[in-house]
Amino acid sequence: MTIGVTVNGKLYQDECDSVSLLVLLRDHWRLLGTKNACAEGECGSCTVLLDGELVNACLVLAAQADGREVTTVEGLADGDRPNTVQQAFLDAGAVQCGFCTPGMVLAVSDLLRRTPDPTEAQARRELAGNLCRCTGYQHILDAVRLAAEREAGAR
Ligand code: FES
Ligand code: FES
Repeated sequence: MTIGVTVNGKLYQDECDSVSLLVLLRDHWRLLGTKNACAEGECGSCTVLLDGELVNACLVLAAQADGREVTTVEGLADGDRPNTVQQAFLDAGAVQCGFCTPGMVLAVSDLLRRTPDPTEAQARRELAGNLCRCTGYQHILDAVRLAAEREAGAR
């Protein structure tokens, strides 16, 4: 069965419908921003948007993504210009090894779309499925606050 998935506005096709969406993105289509740390839905490093909903791509079968739209971290930037959340992660020092960062950035972007001025407790709760082994989370929470302030200032 040929499946077609629109990723960041571009149609990708493949004959392999029995692998995960994560394997399609990384290994078949070489979209390497989406990371693979656990492959079993525990870490959030493979977070993408599927028809606008956050999912762990390692838990989505390729066939389930057929005909749908996916946004990966590569789809957030405007060309070479990072989006507000990506820039806030850089400015707040929220990136160390960077392995969790793409999933975190997608989760934070989605959080701020739904809740433009989240409390720290809301941010912690929303990011509970995205694990970071490096930062201790404080710099990530600083990045959430910075991005929220910048987005508010731009409105
Ligand atoms: S790689 Fe998908 S949740 Fe860890
Ligand atoms: S920056 Fe290394 S896992 Fe988060």
